[in-house]
Amino acid sequence: MLKKVSPALRDGTRIEDLFNLETREVSLSTMYDPEIHQIEMEKIFTKVWLLLGHASEIPKSGDYVVRYMGQDEVIVSRDRKNEIHVSLNVCPHRGMHVCTSESGNAQVHKCIYHGWAFRPDGSFVGAPLEKEKMHGEIYPKEKLGLKKARVQLFHGLIFATWNQEAAPLEDQLGDMKFYYDIMFGKTHGGMEVLGPPQRLTIPANWKTAGEQAACDGFHTLTLHRSQFDIGNFGNISDSMDEFIPIMQGINVAQKGNALRCISAATTFTSLIGSGEDFTKLSDDERVTKLPPPGIVNAQLLAEMKERLSPEQIHVCAVAPPQVGNMFPNVNLLFIYAPLPDGTLGSGYVIHTINPMGADKFQWITWFLCEKDTPEEVKDVIRAVAVQTGGTSGLIEQDDSDTWPHMTIAAKGAWGRTETLKYQAIGGENRPEGWPDKAHVYAGLSKDDAQWHWWLQYHELMTQ
Ligand code: FES
Ligand code: FE
Repeated sequence: MLKKVSPALRDGTRIEDLFNLETREVSLSTMYDPEIHQIEMEKIFTKVWLLLGHASEIPKSGDYVVRYMGQDEVIVSRDRKNEIHVSLNVCPHRGMHVCTSESGNAQVHKCIYHGWAFRPDGSFVGAPLEKEKMHGEIYPKEKLGLKKARVQLFHGLIFATWNQEAAPLEDQLGDMKFYYDIMFGKTHGGMEVLGPPQRLTIPANWKTAGEQAACDGFHTLTLHRSQFDIGNFGNISDSMDEFIPIMQGINVAQKGNALRCISAATTFTSLIGSGEDFTKLSDDERVTKLPPPGIVNAQLLAEMKERLSPEQIHVCAVAPPQVGNMFPNVNLLFIYAPLPDGTLGSGYVIHTINPMGADKFQWITWFLCEKDTPEEVKDVIRAVAVQTGGTSGLIEQDDSDTWPHMTIAAKGAWGRTETLKYQAIGGENRPEGWPDKAHVYAGLSKDDAQWHWWLQYHELMTQ
């Protein structure tokens, strides 16, 4: 039987050699290596479904935004038939970017170099000097369109892949779809973006943020300590023991996707603190008293109860998913946040981590809410999201401090010989009544869920 051969770097190191699957270690050199980066672009970013944005960003015919799939720029646009297309933003004539603005509305995208023009669906309209055949006669017009990616929508989120053989997105999400449906599919109207996304370029390898998003729980204790000091995550004293209840929850993971479901009882006690014993309540009573983040009134709550299954309602009642990722480069933050008037606010933040080289990525941040949220509440949700998960937000200011440091460390001749360790192992542990969906790790947050991210990375990179 033929043995699978792991790709190798120029110095003979095989990709396989960068991992110790038994001791759960990964070479720090993965966090900065232009050769590894190039292999990632081919083996991951041209193969998997990638999140590019939300349908509400381009509501009208001709609307478009320019986004990235790996290091390839793409035009995401809506055509006259209301269909969304994703086309490579590279002119098939001589390689100029066809679209040079970040967003807009156009029924024709005309390349500024020699004037070739393309429709929102990527098809070639024509070139100047049509009769004189500026575009030649070797290829018919049908062959001169922009390269097209496959597109799939998931609760309004726009995903695309270059891989014509890829299974549908549902396969990439696996059992985790059950939890993502809770996050994105709770209301009849669905979600919408609150304005255009923020963009920031960070001098770091994309994986520093990518793998952290897959449920790195322990950094909450230290890196985000200031959030507790100011009461954003509930008040806490100086004792580390007081963190233990906050670190309790249920991590779920599969295929590199991971979510941290945070104990509703702890949230209720620390952020509402009415003295009532939350654990004695039924699922229905719990979600009524503490609806998941973003469910801000009775109408949305009723819709949620209608749309979600009893198993999904149970998840919301016990520990709603609040923080996590979608493999490979999406970070999700669906959080509660105390407001200055004493009430409990919420914010939905989605980030994508777009690689721009081995030591640079673009951090795109969307703020969302349920479309049918009252207008005045949308302002509060936007403010909470900006202050926590925005590029200048308190949480992301903490997180983004570490990523460049790890990348610089990985550049050192000695530093690159260090390993990343995921050895806080809790083991699978599904509480009674919790749905049998994905790998379930209940209790104090450990490294198990995050390790799935690396297993998925390893699988794709060694193929
Ligand atoms: Fe676009 Fe020539 S490169 S028209
Ligand atoms: Fe964080």
